[in-house]
Amino acid sequence: MTASILRAGLLALLVGTLAMASAAEAHDARVASLLEQMTLDEKISMLHANEKFYAGGVERLGIPRILMSDGPHGVRGDVVPHSWESANRPEDSCTYLPVGTVLASTWNPELGTRFGQTLGAEARARGKDVILGPGINVIRTPINGRNFEYMSEDPHLIASMAVPVIRGIQENDIAACVKHYLANNQELDRFHVSVDMPDRAMREIYLPGFKAALLEGESHTLMCAYNRFRGVPCSQSPILGKQILRDEWGSDAVFITDWHIHGIETVAAAMNGLDIEMGSPLPYSSYAFADSLRAAVREGTVPERVIDEKVTRILGMMFETKMLGDESRSTGAFNTPEHQQAALDIAREGIILLKNDGLLPIPLETLKRVVVIGPNADAKHSLGGGSSQVPALYEITPLEGLRQALPEGCELQYFRGVTEQPRGRVTPMPASALISADPGSGVPAWRGEYYPNLEFEGKPVVRYDSTVDFDLGDRGGLTGIERTNFSVRWTGTISVPVSGNYTFRLGSDDGTRLYVDGERVIDHWWDHAYEVREASLQLTAGDRHELVIEYYQAGGDGAVQLGWILPERPDRGPGSEQTEMMNAVRRADAVFYFGGLDKSHDRESADRTSMTLPYGQDELIAELLEVRPDTVIGMVAGSVIEMPWLGDARALLWMGYAGMEGGTAAAEIIGGKVNPSGKLPYTMPKRLEDTPAHSIGEYASGEVYYNEGVFVGYRWAQEHGIEPNFAFGHGLSYTTFKISSLRSPGRVRAGEACRVEAFVTNTGDRAGSEVVQLYLSDIEASVERPKYELKGFVKVYLEPGETRAISFELNERDFAFWDESANRWHVEPGEFEVTLGTSSVDLHLTSTLVVVGSNSR
Ligand code: BGC
Repeated sequence: MTASILRAGLLALLVGTLAMASAAEAHDARVASLLEQMTLDEKISMLHANEKFYAGGVERLGIPRILMSDGPHGVRGDVVPHSWESANRPEDSCTYLPVGTVLASTWNPELGTRFGQTLGAEARARGKDVILGPGINVIRTPINGRNFEYMSEDPHLIASMAVPVIRGIQENDIAACVKHYLANNQELDRFHVSVDMPDRAMREIYLPGFKAALLEGESHTLMCAYNRFRGVPCSQSPILGKQILRDEWGSDAVFITDWHIHGIETVAAAMNGLDIEMGSPLPYSSYAFADSLRAAVREGTVPERVIDEKVTRILGMMFETKMLGDESRSTGAFNTPEHQQAALDIAREGIILLKNDGLLPIPLETLKRVVVIGPNADAKHSLGGGSSQVPALYEITPLEGLRQALPEGCELQYFRGVTEQPRGRVTPMPASALISADPGSGVPAWRGEYYPNLEFEGKPVVRYDSTVDFDLGDRGGLTGIERTNFSVRWTGTISVPVSGNYTFRLGSDDGTRLYVDGERVIDHWWDHAYEVREASLQLTAGDRHELVIEYYQAGGDGAVQLGWILPERPDRGPGSEQTEMMNAVRRADAVFYFGGLDKSHDRESADRTSMTLPYGQDELIAELLEVRPDTVIGMVAGSVIEMPWLGDARALLWMGYAGMEGGTAAAEIIGGKVNPSGKLPYTMPKRLEDTPAHSIGEYASGEVYYNEGVFVGYRWAQEHGIEPNFAFGHGLSYTTFKISSLRSPGRVRAGEACRVEAFVTNTGDRAGSEVVQLYLSDIEASVERPKYELKGFVKVYLEPGETRAISFELNERDFAFWDESANRWHVEPGEFEVTLGTSSVDLHLTSTLVVVGSNSR
């Protein structure tokens, strides 16, 4: 390099640095000047909601309100101001991306970027300033209702996928909001449950995703979880907010509450780093961060300096996203072909081929007679699940995807196979189901205790009701109970005539809970418009069951209904649809079953009660496999299910909720147009008891202690020698790969990084992608460490016969564990093993690496 080129390079660097410095100075000066002009009232007004999804705004100074929107996999439809009620705007229909778990199944960070870019652009086009996602909580139990929104059970995979999503979103001059900080690993009792865990688990498993999202992804905002952490609401936890987020990580991300935190306290939340309070109850002036915060400043319990820090962070975020009058702000893009292509590409790589004994791919173009069965073949899922609902512009179901891929003239028959589930309002369970009675008349009835407050406090007004079917105005004879602000507890006893799977349906506006024999099976305890929740339970004929329904009405219209669906009894007689279906199955060239769960199971605010498939699907699948062992099974579900028929299935495709193009991608994989490359981002245990939370009994309401420590997911399965149905990282291809020539440096000094290299070859006859996974094992450790931990992965696309070099960087933190006694990361000297595999159990090559010396920080 000549001296003049060097000089020119240095000059350019200097000019670049100066430009950055002056931009940062301009930013700081602008923020400082705005802050200086604000009155205390104006500052406080920046710190709380003033509409369901709006906060802040000072018109006098040209500071706009901040408009937030769900959610993680598409822009939610607008709601009516001050309410959860949908505004039903057809123009909101937008791109529906595959959900978090499906994105994570791609193990492809580039798709993470495209996912983020799409979401960010669409949110901007709808005028939003903050998009409430990605959701990155660790998948700890298979029955968590929100697993589908999240990504994985592994912190490395979560961090690797969340960072590009956030960067992609924020390229569009909009803030991402990573959520829910911390430990929203169950929906059961989500508003109150207090989660505790060993520090090591917190540092090694639960925090890394958030740290990466904030420090590498530079997420402008962060949302707290509803639950408590060590007894304190996450919104005001000194450990999570002040100590870790602000002091240790030095993050100036705007810290926002989830919508209505229970038990929030003004001073504690203000002093521990929270910036904005969002919520549900009205009026907004009653919020902890409204009048009460102003009073705290006036009284001197919260210094005004603390308020200034919050407003500075918020204005900083507004400045970064060009909200403060910058005309170059992106206006986004909506429903573009590129966005739909992104949805399709993510689905193509996110759908996982779990099992295949040579049945797939099927040359669809040769088929003449096809039968498709199952409740998810023709079902759309975009609009369910709670806050992550997306008003999809369109949604290609598996049936539609196949229809498009089959040749003209092919006869395609569809049977649902299981009874259609009722939607909308609930038909109340008849009084004839009850054996409890009104003691006065002896007529079957529920005992209803009506309280004139939300907390079941004081002496109730008692009334015997023949059904739990209450609508606004239905308070005949109930003196002392107003139209709003009351609670009711109904108790009753039922006895069922036949044994089987019963689905209880509870519809309400606002909160409801259902207990069966003392166990809470529906927990929908929050303010909402009329919504239905379900719980399926196995009940035995003749047994008595005690039911308790709790309900509160906090404002607006009130309604509650308890209904039920009796066990499935499909009619199998001559001429019945079931008989016609089985005849068609016998005659068909190919049979496809698409079942799984739906958004009444994978949803916010309640967990599933078991891993069993609903609607009698297990029996139906077993019957189909008996008649047609070559039935291809596709599962649409957000989290793990039991698969009692797995041994008989020849081909199993795991689709997750694969977005608006999910059906197209599934058909492409079935037909072989696309070679599958998705890998499981979570373990698929055989039974609930094979997972830590359930086997050690640390899944509950009230309080949970994550006693399994760092042994979550595959770390637990390996530690206890449990064989899952499918292991973390598993996913098949139509071609084969070979990993060779693993090279590691042999020795590495503690605290330093090193590189591991290998080759991967496509040894089959189809082009395809493989995800090579690097697992690290600490052989000589002074603490108990998981056998294998994912520390790197590379996804490579290879033509048949092609070989490529791959490399992984291992850094200091990859070797470290959290030393609880010293409260810091520690790398110990000794032997480690580096293993490359194509799943956490298909391990191909291993090499020993000796760490020399030790390192703590
Ligand atoms: C959810 C959040 C969501 C918020 C706003 C809450 O109920 O937990 O994830 O972003 O509502 O809709």
